[in-house]
Amino acid sequence: MKAQEIKKDIYFVGAKDWNIRDFHGYKVPRGTSYNAYLIIDEKITLVDTVKAPFSQELLTKIKSIIDPTKIDYLICNHVEMDHSSSMPAVLEQTKNATVITDMQGKNSLAQHYDTSDWKIEVVKTGDTLNIGKRTLSFVQTPMLHWPDSMVTYIEQDKLLLPNDGFGQHIAADSIFANENPMDIIFEEAKSYYANILFPFPKQTFNALEVLQNLEIDMIAPAHGCIWQKDEVKKIQELYNDWASGKNENKAVIIYDTMWGSTEKMARSIELELESHNIKVAVKNLKEVDVSEIMTELIDSKYVIIGCSVLNNQILPKMAGFLNYMQGLKPHDKIGFSFGSYGWAKGVLDQLQQPFEALNFETPVDSFTCQYVPTEEDLNELQNKIKELVKK
Ligand code: FEO
Repeated sequence: MKAQEIKKDIYFVGAKDWNIRDFHGYKVPRGTSYNAYLIIDEKITLVDTVKAPFSQELLTKIKSIIDPTKIDYLICNHVEMDHSSSMPAVLEQTKNATVITDMQGKNSLAQHYDTSDWKIEVVKTGDTLNIGKRTLSFVQTPMLHWPDSMVTYIEQDKLLLPNDGFGQHIAADSIFANENPMDIIFEEAKSYYANILFPFPKQTFNALEVLQNLEIDMIAPAHGCIWQKDEVKKIQELYNDWASGKNENKAVIIYDTMWGSTEKMARSIELELESHNIKVAVKNLKEVDVSEIMTELIDSKYVIIGCSVLNNQILPKMAGFLNYMQGLKPHDKIGFSFGSYGWAKGVLDQLQQPFEALNFETPVDSFTCQYVPTEEDLNELQNKIKELVKK
């Protein structure tokens, strides 16, 4: 297990997690990686660590370059445990190292680990740390996506180390994005934004504004692959689009169904939308995971939700999806709901509640029918879709 040089004297010493498939509820079919970076300069600096089960792999990679006892600084850009839970193992080896983090990071570290004998230096936006030939500078990016989040920038290398920002959950063959199929890397970046950073568009804009003033030719995030050359600009543009709520002429239909009535309605809506040249994705919650749906939803203009009624409730997978979607706070959408009921029609009003909470436009009233939709019902439903697409 060797470290991999990404710039002169800067090494990837992270770990690929090939087998993880569930990242706190976010399904990651391609695994992930926990990226840490070792900088060899007059002061040896480690930027972030890895998830605790990979501590030994991190230390082995560090040892392939340098004795870990020589580490002077350990930068903690973010306290979430996928990046910080190997800090105790690293600091056990290198007791003299100083941890660099912001005030939120310091407080949060103390709530995760016994930091009583850690040397911690607190930094804030604009602060710098000279490590020899290089000067590291820090920009706090609070709530992107935790209160303690910050990024580290190295002017001399034009290198940005943004931790979670610009990451992707993928254990890729190569650590460099352009040595993998790029469509997959961008798809995973989109999925990552949709499932992790979607609730924070303002914070994303703030960070992008700061980055505009920095000369960057490489972005090395804490998950997935490293962006270089043209990709650096491209991924920032995509972040700007996603945070802006820029939509395609596209709809996503998300449904669950008991005996096929709601599914029949979903198919009818799909046909109507297609007749208006609107791209449609149809997602049955029985088969498709919520993470995949959120990735589809991020640039969909129309969010169309359908469900049946069970025991005077909406179906449990739909309840789970609505909860997940509401937490991720999608914005700038047009919503429409539909469904089938037996004797508890009012229950389907619950499908409208997230639209209200998320300030979606709802120009057309929802559509429900009892038991199985008739031809007349489906015609009425399609007429509602005709109205909807005028928006
Ligand atoms: Fe990759 Fe917010 O942790």
